Amino acid sequence: MSVTESLLVVHVLSVVLWIGGVAFVTTIVLPMLASWPAAQRFAVFREIERRFGTEARVLVVAAGASGGALLFRLRLTGLLFRPQGAWLDGMIGLWTLFALLLFVAEPLFLHRKMTEMAQRDPSRAHALLVRGHRLLLALAVIVIIAGVWGATG
Ligand code: HEM
Repeated sequence: MSVTESLLVVHVLSVVLWIGGVAFVTTIVLPMLASWPAAQRFAVFREIERRFGTEARVLVVAAGASGGALLFRLRLTGLLFRPQGAWLDGMIGLWTLFALLLFVAEPLFLHRKMTEMAQRDPSRAHALLVRGHRLLLALAVIVIIAGVWGATG
């Protein structure tokens, strides 16, 4: 297997595991917790997110590093500022959004704000988490479809 093929394997595998985790939380964990008592609901969700958060951070770094390396090896940097390269801009945009959420917003204020809200108004906190995760998953699905189309078309 060539270096470029290995990088593509790392890239696709990181994306599958990372976005697969987001899909699991969005479509299984959050709907399941909706019927639980408020106090338990948030504690369980926090524990799942704490574990998945660490995994997601590693996967986001791996996806970004392998994607960046592929960009240069495949000589695709020239596409970044052209309409035909919108699929690449989408990948980088979504990656930046997740990186900011996981590495900046979460540790700086998001974790604290969500904990406060969950204590004050658990239903609102749950609804916000559902909406946020659905939005991120929908964006990821669009970027994956565009990425496969862009890379093969
Ligand atoms: C810094 C961020 C990223 C960069 C620089 C990047 C760059 C790339 C490059 C250069 C390729 C190879 C294209 C080719 O084979 O011609 C690729 C493939 C791919 N990327 Fe990304 N990517 C990034 C993030 C993401 C994200 C966030 C997703 C999805 C959520 C994603 C999904 C994919 C998929 C599914 C492919 C495989 C396409 C295929 O071979 O069929 N990438 N990426």
